[in-house]
Amino acid sequence: MKSLAGKTAFITGGTSGIGFGMASVFASAGMNIVITDIRQDALDRAGNELREITENVMTVNVDSTDASALNDAAQELSRRFGPLHVLCNNAGVPGGGKVLETPIEGWRNTHEVNFWGPLNGVNVFLPGMLEHGEEAHIVNTASFSGIHGHGHQSGYGTSKFAIVGLSEFLRNDLVGTSVGVSVLCPHVVDTPIIDALKERVSKDVQSIIEEMAVPAETVGYQVMQAMLSNEFYIFCDGTHTREMLINRCNDMIDAMNRQFPE
Ligand SMILES: NC(=O)c1ccc[n+]([C@@H]2O[C@H](COP(=O)([O-])OP(=O)(O)OC[C@H]3O[C@@H](n4cnc5c(N)ncnc54)[C@H](O)[C@@H]3O)[C@@H](O)[C@H]2O)c1
Repeated sequence: MKSLAGKTAFITGGTSGIGFGMASVFASAGMNIVITDIRQDALDRAGNELREITENVMTVNVDSTDASALNDAAQELSRRFGPLHVLCNNAGVPGGGKVLETPIEGWRNTHEVNFWGPLNGVNVFLPGMLEHGEEAHIVNTASFSGIHGHGHQSGYGTSKFAIVGLSEFLRNDLVGTSVGVSVLCPHVVDTPIIDALKERVSKDVQSIIEEMAVPAETVGYQVMQAMLSNEFYIFCDGTHTREMLINRCNDMIDAMNRQFPE
């Protein structure tokens, strides 16, 4: 996209953390903002904070796993602001652990919110974005856990690999159209999800996490820049992840080069 002022953004899970970081940066850039969440108190608080930046703010209580409710939200958005230009499929839930220690319900919940939610967003909004023909962009929030299988991330990590895959196929589908795609792959961002993680680890690990955490507003700014330059991958901070990515790619290339005995 070449410009954002006067355009409209729809951000799922936009009341806190990365979603709110994007909402406040986009609002400061002159966009109309629609944020969704499943927590009404958080919607009220975030809506009030954003209205200090712009009066063009709409809050919608909608669960992104409910395609029909998302469709109603799309109608509401269109009545207030007209066409949608930026779709941020951002709402997500944690749910890691070792594979055998993760209950089936945990697998279902992470995939329902982290993968089916964004897929619902694409199915509900993309046809209208293609039809209006103005420049537009979709940002899917994945994670570095969707790029590299480190630690024990079971349901969460696999749902994030799925969203990276969805984004790559979507990028191929949309070549030559007015709609760009980015996939956001942060490692550690300073948000309530990370606060919950910190409660489960030792003091030493807590301070490592704190040192790694990127502010949510910085991520919002990085996303805005990626939309303006149509960058596909958004890695918020390569300090701790560059080596892991290089090793993963090298493992694959080595496997491809391997000679098997006749
Ligand atoms: N914080 C990190 O370090 C980090 C790293 C990588 C990826 N992410 C991803 O970033 C995204 C945002 O996470 P965050 O860290 O800002 O956490 P957060 O908890 O601050 O924000 C997530 C928001 O999504 C909302 N939500 C949950 N389920 C929903 C649903 N079904 N429909 C609508 N809203 C729903 C929550 O109420 C919450 O407000 C998630 O997809 C997360 O997996 C976060």
